[in-house]
Amino acid sequence: MAEESAGIDALSAENRRFAPPEDFKRDALVVGTFMYDEANEDFHEFWAGQASDLVSWSRQWSAICEWELPYAKWFVGAQLNVAYNCLDRHVEAGIGDRVAIYWEGEPGDTRTITYAQLLDETKRFASVLQGLGVGVGDRVNIYLPMIPEAAVAMLACARIGAAHSVVFGGFSAQSLSDRINDAEAKVLITADGGWRRGEVFPLKTAADEALATTPTIEHVVVVRRGGNDVTMVDGRDHWYHELMEHASDDCPAEPFDSEQLLFLLYTSGTTGKPKGIMHTTGGYLTHVAFTHKYVFDLHADTDVYWCTADIGWITGHSYIVYGPLANGATQVMYEGVPNFPANDRMWDIVEKYKVSIFYTAPTAIRTYMKWGDQEPAKHDLTSLRLLGSVGEPINPEAWMWYREHIGGDRCPVVDTWWQTETGGIMISPLPGATTLKPGSATFPLPGISAEVVDDNAAHVEVGGGYLTLTQPWPGMLRGIWNDPQRYQDTYWSRFPGRYFAGDGAKLDDDGYLWLLGRVDDVMNVSGHRISTTEVESALVSHPAVAEAAVVGANDATTGQAIIAYVTLRTGFDADVKTLRDHVATEIGPIAKPKAIFFTPELPKTRSGKIMRRLLRDVAEGRNLGDTTTLADATVVDELQTRAAQAPPED
Ligand code: PRX
Repeated sequence: MAEESAGIDALSAENRRFAPPEDFKRDALVVGTFMYDEANEDFHEFWAGQASDLVSWSRQWSAICEWELPYAKWFVGAQLNVAYNCLDRHVEAGIGDRVAIYWEGEPGDTRTITYAQLLDETKRFASVLQGLGVGVGDRVNIYLPMIPEAAVAMLACARIGAAHSVVFGGFSAQSLSDRINDAEAKVLITADGGWRRGEVFPLKTAADEALATTPTIEHVVVVRRGGNDVTMVDGRDHWYHELMEHASDDCPAEPFDSEQLLFLLYTSGTTGKPKGIMHTTGGYLTHVAFTHKYVFDLHADTDVYWCTADIGWITGHSYIVYGPLANGATQVMYEGVPNFPANDRMWDIVEKYKVSIFYTAPTAIRTYMKWGDQEPAKHDLTSLRLLGSVGEPINPEAWMWYREHIGGDRCPVVDTWWQTETGGIMISPLPGATTLKPGSATFPLPGISAEVVDDNAAHVEVGGGYLTLTQPWPGMLRGIWNDPQRYQDTYWSRFPGRYFAGDGAKLDDDGYLWLLGRVDDVMNVSGHRISTTEVESALVSHPAVAEAAVVGANDATTGQAIIAYVTLRTGFDADVKTLRDHVATEIGPIAKPKAIFFTPELPKTRSGKIMRRLLRDVAEGRNLGDTTTLADATVVDELQTRAAQAPPED
């Protein structure tokens, strides 16, 4: 953990504290420690209480939790329908006219969708899917921009007991095809295109390319959004609006088992192949409804909530679709980038819809800082009462800027730690109960148990180590699709009996948790996990590349930046742009290296292992430590000279 020690030292200097403001506490859902006390007494009973309180069940469970390490079942034998929980029951309760989604397209077009309308659309699309042959347990792939149909598609799957696998619209055709094939999906739901930076990006073209190698797909549903030209294959491709025109709204929400597969979501691991993380219904819905309500202190009848994530990531699944809709919240959904048409678009939206709860990522916050204090200052942001952060460690200065310039020095900031695998938030303040320290995710939530351990799995009371989770939680992953061995190896082998998250963490003298980032070969770029191996494989798949090594280097805006070292094959040539574009085609633009350095040789140990630590040092301009294990020490001198000469790409 040598690399983390600098972070640990820097964090010790953080002495600022922010107790919950009195006027916030007055209406807060949780003040004091009662919820922690209750959960500490019996965490099973605690979660059962939340499940009864927040979720509507068609049949009661016979056991709260069955735990056979590493497999958990929650609310065993119970039945529910997730779409019923997110839609029907709100309409039945008389709040069908409440706005579920204020949607804003990037060009400025808007749609306001009530719970009754969202239910109607979902029922009809669920009928459409059934008409296309989708049944219980089938997988449906979703590759859409940030449009309401993305939520409709997910809920329609949930309604009929099919599992969705959403692929972020920024991923390439190759990534989409890999994920479709791994999931063996029957239907793909996509769009002609979506708006981004003032232009339409052609999603259907990428989908078509993927579809050339996806034999399991029988039908493709295409939403019209971009208005761009597309090719429709007769019998396979159908327009969403045409199918919906004749669709029946008679589609009852059948109850399904609490452990029915709700979705797969692919995420990067240390090896090249993405993992299909499995989430089921009863426990997951309980977890996301609970955390969405209490971490964000949701007052569903008055708050306007906005999570800026894309629906293609777990944050979009849990905190745009399932958590907020289960809780009957009113939310904003925005299609485009934060700087179109100008750098104040986000604050314009906050003012326009009177957003009261705002949830975003540190990389975005650092970008807003860079654009300047004057941007938020142009707008009335007094509707805001709570701010949240997710995706990577938030540095104290960004936390303070967020609090001051967005939160007007009055809003609590909740830094929420969790992962695709955890399903929902695990470590976070409760804003009416927790005294905040800038940059700390503070404590495990009630019902969650986390511990920091050292290399030998010994408990760490104060200081740095590895973050582990010691008891099952309702939203936990149920495995990796088609790969039980990898599930066991990745999460449960490093520290026997504990879930290992892959993150370093530190406990300070007051017991506050400080997350220190990944300890494995997974980079965190703008809050998204990308494996070094995946980018290396993409580079090596170019005919001119002989060998590649990829590292994540610290970056002021994106957290980490992808830096690649590439050796070309003799007699071949390729420039930086060609290789960056190649990675974009293979994985997606988010995985494009920020800088690529060409080198005749990579630094290797005598046993032939690439010395990544050393490459990280070079990339971050640090003095190199011990290089005596290198097979050829001159390689490094050469690399340092090149790094100093070559300006990184933007
Ligand atoms: O390293 C941690 C970081 O993001 C990883 C999980 O990434 P992903 O599955 O893509 O989910 C992101 C959204 C939940 C974690 O292993 N991470 C996430 N939130 C935080 C964080 N690191 C520090 N502080 C956080 N609040």
